[in-house]
Amino acid sequence: MEFEGKKVLITGAASGIGRATAIRFAAAGAQVTIGDINAAGLEETAGMMASTPKVVPYDACDFDSCRALVDAAATDGLDVLCNISGMIKWGPSLDFAVEDFERILKVNTTSVFVLCQAALPHLVKSKGNIVNTASTAALQGLAYTIAYSASKHAVAAITKGLAIEFAAKGVRVNAICPGHVDTPLAATPPPTGGDVDWSLVMRNAPKLENGSCEPLDIAEMFAYLASERARKVTGSLFTIDGGQLAG
Ligand SMILES: NC(=O)c1ccc[n+]([C@@H]2O[C@H](COP(=O)([O-])OP(=O)(O)OC[C@H]3O[C@@H](n4cnc5c(N)ncnc54)[C@H](O)[C@@H]3O)[C@@H](O)[C@H]2O)c1
Repeated sequence: MEFEGKKVLITGAASGIGRATAIRFAAAGAQVTIGDINAAGLEETAGMMASTPKVVPYDACDFDSCRALVDAAATDGLDVLCNISGMIKWGPSLDFAVEDFERILKVNTTSVFVLCQAALPHLVKSKGNIVNTASTAALQGLAYTIAYSASKHAVAAITKGLAIEFAAKGVRVNAICPGHVDTPLAATPPPTGGDVDWSLVMRNAPKLENGSCEPLDIAEMFAYLASERARKVTGSLFTIDGGQLAG
């Protein structure tokens, strides 16, 4: 099996893309550690996996708990880090609370850096790799979604910068940029009462018929980028969006 014996840490694994990715890696023989703030969701995911994972609840806003998650995953070394935890809140910019802006950056961006920082010494030893989750929001401006979009642009920057810094040490770092994926996050409604022009929201609809992605579509890309098949791929942002950004 492709990931037999490989030690893989997957965050955001209580739901959506992270859950599908945990299931995908376990089915390919990996020894998986799953992390998320939602402990009950993690247990549900564990019950869906082909092998028993290490289950480690953590809070992305608490950087010591991010480091403890990596320590727990890497007791016997670490080959792959999949950073998938994330949150969104959106709404008209004039009404957007700065506290929400800061929390989104903490969860989506700073914690990703802290997890990479903690994992990299292990990945240098194993010549492993990191796959981050950016978004099509990392590649374009999005009305009403400024904090999320800023946080994902920053994930793209972290990915490319670390790829350069660690290439000579044999560590690859890539990111996936999903468009619309059918998960609870994508169903987050705007706050009520704000003035939202829906024509600005809908301009980035997928072009393919049934163009929204399923979590498994994204999990397949995680599996590809983390595998030897992608051994020449680093510093890349992989879009999977049903043609959303095609024009
Ligand atoms: N669904 C989409 O359309 C879409 C598109 C592009 C990118 N993404 C990204 O994909 C990733 C996964 O999202 P999803 O769509 O599967 O959503 P989801 O809501 O199903 O999963 C997100 C997970 O992150 C966890 N999480 C949130 N805050 C956390 C915190 N403080 N500490 C630890 N865990 C926390 C949640 O508990 C949840 O299990 C996110 O980074 C998201 O930004 C999603």
